[in-house]
Amino acid sequence: MPQIIDASAMMQQAVTALQQGALVAMPTETVYGLAGNATDDAAVRLIYATKSRPAHNPLIVHIASIADAYDLAHIVAGSVAEKLMQKYWQPPADLNDGAMILGALTLVLTAKENSALSKLLITDEGTIALRLPHHPTALELIEKAGFPLAAPSANLSGQLTPTRAEHVMRHFADVPQPHYILTDPCPCHYGIESTIIDARGERLNILRQGSWQGEDFADIAQPEKNTPIIAPGMLSRHYAPNSRLRLNASNQQTDELMLGFGKIDGDLNLSPAGDLMEAAHHFYDYLFQLDQMNSPDYRKIIAVAKIPAHDMGIALNDRLARAIAR
Ligand code: TXA
Ligand code: MG
Repeated sequence: MPQIIDASAMMQQAVTALQQGALVAMPTETVYGLAGNATDDAAVRLIYATKSRPAHNPLIVHIASIADAYDLAHIVAGSVAEKLMQKYWQPPADLNDGAMILGALTLVLTAKENSALSKLLITDEGTIALRLPHHPTALELIEKAGFPLAAPSANLSGQLTPTRAEHVMRHFADVPQPHYILTDPCPCHYGIESTIIDARGERLNILRQGSWQGEDFADIAQPEKNTPIIAPGMLSRHYAPNSRLRLNASNQQTDELMLGFGKIDGDLNLSPAGDLMEAAHHFYDYLFQLDQMNSPDYRKIIAVAKIPAHDMGIALNDRLARAIAR
């Protein structure tokens, strides 16, 4: 059974566990990741087994500096990928709250063949996905471990994404991994997964909408038009609670639980003020809570109020659509 530990008091235990090949659940500014040594085949296999994740669905590699990206991927001087990294990946000098709003952008790049990375992290197309989180605990863990961390979201495949230590515990309470679930005073600020961009070309291909909004990347490159927004892991049913969902609900019917937004209230309201960033922050947590209220038989349906499909609302609607997919 995993142990929930305080990151500042027990960081060294977590680092040692990673160095011994075990897994650690770490908070990031998006969601919790299930982290393992990205240079160790056995640790990467353990991540897949622990999550019951299909082998065709690749993992994101988390690094602690831009220099690490040059070791792992081909990055041409002056390329779009390099400009994006320079603009959006620079770790903040001061790692306190406001400073970490940039680390939610994952880039798909061409992998270097001869890097230390486990070959299991390189796709058949020869790509890897890299993310430089700005969350202080995640950064400290990667730095102290001394190797990059492969980390998918810390949930069983297809199920709700965790944004709190207790969510991670609910997924893995009965299994030996992860050894530790780290907590700290700094929550998963955004609450929705990172945005994934294929940055191999001169135009950007957005593979997954997420926390990073990047309104002002037009000076760097234009997004590809009319390409479906699909990373391999998003093809099937995903992000789903145990309860069934009813979307775009304008009211709560008998025998329903309701997740409200704005003026449409419910058992819980994502943001009474109609603020999409606030809604994202609460999104998975409130679905976890409603699912818990509905356990053990999950007899009730969770009705979800309409969420406007702009800015962060695009990612929220994307997650809801995939949660009801069959
Ligand atoms: O915010 C996040 O991105 C979190 C935190 C922990 O970093 N991670 C996360 O990982 O959401 P995961 O495994 O739940 O989702 C990663 C997505 C999957 O849909 C996967 O298919 C896609 O990234 N992906 C990973 N490597 C890829 C690659 N080389 N090319 C295309 N898509 C890739
Ligand atoms: Mg996931």
